[in-house]
Amino acid sequence: MKCTDCHSPHGTSNRATLRQSGWETCVQCHVEKRGPFVFEHSAVKVEGCTICHTPHGSVNRMLLARREERFLCLQCHVDPFAVNVPHGRLGFQTRGECVRCHANIHGSNFDANFLH
Ligand code: HEC
Ligand code: HEC
Ligand code: HEC
Ligand code: HEC
Ligand code: HEC
Repeated sequence: MKCTDCHSPHGTSNRATLRQSGWETCVQCHVEKRGPFVFEHSAVKVEGCTICHTPHGSVNRMLLARREERFLCLQCHVDPFAVNVPHGRLGFQTRGECVRCHANIHGSNFDANFLH
């Protein structure tokens, strides 16, 4: 991929000389992530793709901002003892990734917890 796929050398009114603002930069190619979904993951919609992904490359195969995906999730989903927690999230820290179950992490039309 070329720098100019996302950036303009002539400068733009967007942050970091991006051709398009925010997640528009990403969903122009990853159109299936655009939605809208019945159940949006507000992290995707509100904060945008780069709250979880690093566009310039990463130690993670999926370009995630953290090497281990579950720690990325736990950055925001912090309280394992909150009343509405169905499973102790910390219990999953040593047992695989959250997206094993929360498979549609970018948003789902079927399930409020992005399970399918
Ligand atoms: C897939 C899209 C994409 C490509 C390709 C890309 N960038 Fe970026 N770049 C971004 C995004 C998105 C940001 C804003 C980062 C953020 O939101 O934290 C950014 C930010 C930057 C910044 C500002 C750094 C900062 O922290 O503010 C520089 C400099 C930069 N890119 C240079 C490059 C160069 C040089 C290339 C080619 C080698 C390149 N980019 C390729 C998407 C891209
Ligand atoms: C110009 C088109 C284009 C843009 C813009 C773009 N991508 Fe991609 N992206 C691709 C292609 C092509 C692939 C490789 C798909 C494959 O191998 O199946 C890819 C792969 C990925 C992957 C998966 C990594 C992997 O190795 O499979 C992630 C995550 C990703 N992009 C995130 C982003 C994010 C976040 C942005 C915005 C900052 C972005 N992309 C912008 C075209 C683009
Ligand atoms: C809440 C964190 C988070 C946000 C925000 C996020 N992603 Fe992802 N993304 C992930 C995780 C986790 C994976 C790895 C999924 C897996 O391993 O199955 C992933 C995987 C991907 C992939 C590769 C696998 C696939 O599903 O195609 C692409 C492409 C991608 N993301 C694009 C995007 C784009 C574009 C945005 C913004 C619209 C975005 N992501 C926002 C967490 C996020
Ligand atoms: C940048 C912060 C952030 C990250 C990173 C993040 N989330 Fe979220 N997530 C949110 C917010 C905000 C909501 C909406 C919470 C609400 O409405 O009460 C949410 C909602 C959810 C929900 C729906 C249930 C609910 O409470 O509404 C699930 C399931 C979920 N996230 C799982 C994950 C998983 C798994 C990951 C890692 C791949 C992840 N999240 C990463 C911020 C984040
Ligand atoms: C073995 C499968 C599985 C794994 C792994 C898993 N979850 Fe869940 N999670 C579920 C199920 C099932 C529900 C919905 C339970 C219900 O409907 O009562 C759920 C619900 C949630 C919710 C929404 C309810 C709430 O507490 O707000 C969040 C947030 C969440 N999971 C985060 C995570 C995070 C973060 C991880 C990784 C550290 C993770 N999950 C790993 C199965 C899993």
